[in-house]
Amino acid sequence: MGYPRKPHARETVLLSKHFGDADARTYKGWVKRGGYEMLAQALTMEPARIIDSVKESGLRGRGGAGFPTGLKWSFMPKEKKKPHYLCVNADESEPGTFKDREIMRWTPHALLEGAAIAAHAIQAEVVYIYIRGEFTEPWAVMEKALAEATAAGVFGAIKLHLHRGAGAYICGEETALMNSIEGKRGNPRIKPPFPAAAGVFGMPTTINNVETLAAVPLILKKGAAWYKGLSLASPKSTGTKLFSVCGHVQNPGNYEVTMGFPLKDLLYDLCGGMPPGRTLKACIPGGSSVPILNREETESCLLDYEGVVEKGSMLGSGGVIVFDDSTDMVYQIMRLARFYAHESCAQCTQCREGTAWTTKILERILSGQGKTADLDLLLDLAENMTGKTICVLSDSCAAPVVSGIKKFKKEFEDYVAGRRKPVMVA
Ligand SMILES: Cc1cc2nc3c(=O)[nH]c(=O)nc-3n(C[C@H](O)[C@H](O)[C@H](O)COP(=O)(O)O)c2cc1C
Repeated sequence: MGYPRKPHARETVLLSKHFGDADARTYKGWVKRGGYEMLAQALTMEPARIIDSVKESGLRGRGGAGFPTGLKWSFMPKEKKKPHYLCVNADESEPGTFKDREIMRWTPHALLEGAAIAAHAIQAEVVYIYIRGEFTEPWAVMEKALAEATAAGVFGAIKLHLHRGAGAYICGEETALMNSIEGKRGNPRIKPPFPAAAGVFGMPTTINNVETLAAVPLILKKGAAWYKGLSLASPKSTGTKLFSVCGHVQNPGNYEVTMGFPLKDLLYDLCGGMPPGRTLKACIPGGSSVPILNREETESCLLDYEGVVEKGSMLGSGGVIVFDDSTDMVYQIMRLARFYAHESCAQCTQCREGTAWTTKILERILSGQGKTADLDLLLDLAENMTGKTICVLSDSCAAPVVSGIKKFKKEFEDYVAGRRKPVMVA
């Protein structure tokens, strides 16, 4: 989707308001739009007051897990005995998710301002912004924005650094990201200790997603009560959320809606529905790591943390992948498994072996060599891959497989029984 894009009447554009507006990415342009006023105010405030306000707003992490942001900040030691750090997770490698890169491309100062406010709230003097290696343009925009804002002296004693990743999905996992910043291999760490106790360089650390932090200046500006009021269904899900919609819709792209917005309306109204002559078959609502919804579940799903869980999936990072009735679900699930097998850090046996064998078995089924027992074997593997590893990459590979077999079993059986033409999987 190109920018500037006229927002749909049913969108609530807060974070994406300036997408496409080149002037807003300059320091002067951002200040003209009221930028950095909230940071100046926050730097005069007691950190605890900022944390209380974010807690009251109901803001939850937009990186995938949906953990309450103010609560996370409150875990940092109150008494400062060691240096504190803030890490910004700008790795965004989850298939189907493409919103953080747009925040960085178009409103870099919203992220910088939110990060500096968060740093003050958790008493961190250093912020690392960990940017995915492939993000060439967002990197350049962020570099320029950081240089301009630093020269203007808006960050006070807080030092912000950009750190470029090397293109590994696993480095988006918070503890792998910290290892990567330290110059180590990006392997996730066993928790506890949690980052607030021992994070980057062994020091108390908070890590937040780009979209989470970009919302913070707005919360301070308009008030926690206002933000909390942005909620169409569950009071536990507040604010707006950017949904990256891709796949079989007529108008894919990023859409910003209030929490609780119906998924059906997002797909049929905002995104223009399926291609002509096609009908909806399935949808992955929260990036590739979450269970697949069938058509009925998709069409009755409300887009907030509780609404998506109610349908058996998760809101995750808000990457909505849409499949129409022309889709070969077995093939799509194999492609996802292949991604996880490629990206596994290989530290845990269940993940290293599980993702590889899942891929192999799916390839076998697709190539016409599958056996009836393969479906049970896949489910058995998935069970051994879930809840048993240091991080949830393994679980993420298992989720689409289990939900796929449950909801589209006939497609698997057709391959095994030779009722479907084998496909090339190389
Ligand atoms: C394999 C894996 C990859 C992840 N990738 C990302 C990512 O690219 N960006 C992100 O913000 N969170 C990612 N996460 C979630 C982070 O570990 C963490 O929960 C998040 O950065 C916390 O920020 P939030 O509370 O603001 O959501 C990933 C988690 C896992 C297990």
